[in-house]
Amino acid sequence: MTSRELFISVFKGKDIERPPIWFMRQAGRYLPEYMALRKGKTFEQMVMNPELAVEITLQPIIRFDLDAAIIFSDILIPFYSMKRGLEIKSGIGPILQYPIVHPEEVDDLYLPISGKNFPYLIESIKMVREKIPDKWLIGFAGSPFTLASYLIEGKSTRNALATKVFAYRYPDAFAKLLDKLASIVTSQLLIQINAGVDMIQIFDSWAGFLSPSQYSEWVLPPLTKILKKIDVPKIIYARGSSHLLPVLKKCNADGYGIDGTISLQDARAIVGDGKLLQGNLDPALLQTSPSLVRAGLTKILAQVQNPRYIFNLSQGIDRNSSIECVTEMVNAVKGWRYSF
Ligand code: CP3
Repeated sequence: MTSRELFISVFKGKDIERPPIWFMRQAGRYLPEYMALRKGKTFEQMVMNPELAVEITLQPIIRFDLDAAIIFSDILIPFYSMKRGLEIKSGIGPILQYPIVHPEEVDDLYLPISGKNFPYLIESIKMVREKIPDKWLIGFAGSPFTLASYLIEGKSTRNALATKVFAYRYPDAFAKLLDKLASIVTSQLLIQINAGVDMIQIFDSWAGFLSPSQYSEWVLPPLTKILKKIDVPKIIYARGSSHLLPVLKKCNADGYGIDGTISLQDARAIVGDGKLLQGNLDPALLQTSPSLVRAGLTKILAQVQNPRYIFNLSQGIDRNSSIECVTEMVNAVKGWRYSF
């Protein structure tokens, strides 16, 4: 069975031998070959150069023979066309020179037209698709809430405080902002699907700061609107959000990325048997030893009783991860055989 066939079976809930494997931030700074390519270049230069983006996307596939590639890009690329002075600084993270301060700014927010503003993304996806026909290819975007938090706070938020203050003080402007972002995200995902990705994942990195009722009121409507337009398999990964799973369950995704705040077993009890789960090995283990990695992973895989499951980390891989540990993780998952 090829990797693509494995993923197709998993989404249909057919019996399979082992789970497919990919992991968040698999193309990145823990890889010496990434660091070598990155020398002297900004993140923007790498993402917007299809030859480089393709090479970086394929680096973890070549090294570990993973089942899926995720296109090398970022959830914040729409901001490059919005003229908000986005810079992704090494070791610091994204910084926006011009965050949204006044509610009236939402009316003037420039909406990127995806085909025109992301030609490099389309080209990179087409090239990767051609190079690895037997692998699963993942496209992605940020959720309207996480994108709004970057627009309002101008950087990775610590608690989403400013975003929530904005939402309470200017409820109409906030709803409008999330709705505009939903249009952007929808077109960003559709161009990736047209270019050849097999699945999409929406990253809601800061969802965990919201209560279930805040999430239901502010985020669920735009999120549901996006997902309605997508007809390839779709996964939502909302970090720090096990308390939101009962709400997230309503958005009609095919699967849920699970972080370290809940066990797979408990997550399964919430989402039910018809949904796919993805996760949730702690990336901290990748800075220990191959035997600890294997032990941690066995604990997770032993809980899997349902073929609707994809192996992944509980959050993005850390730059200090050991290649030896990553290799062990991949080999252990690929060598695993289900007993059901
Ligand atoms: O997973 C992958 O391999 C695909 C590529 C990918 C990147 N970013 C590449 C990247 C994906 C899916 C993302 C998503 C992303 N970007 C999220 C959601 C996922 C999450 O972690 O919650 C968020 C919040 C961002 C915003 C962002 N971009 C941050 C916070 C950073 C800085 C990270 C850091 O450690 O400094 C980036 C930059 C970025 N995006 C890098 C990579 C490989 C690092 C670039 C570098 O300095 O070399």
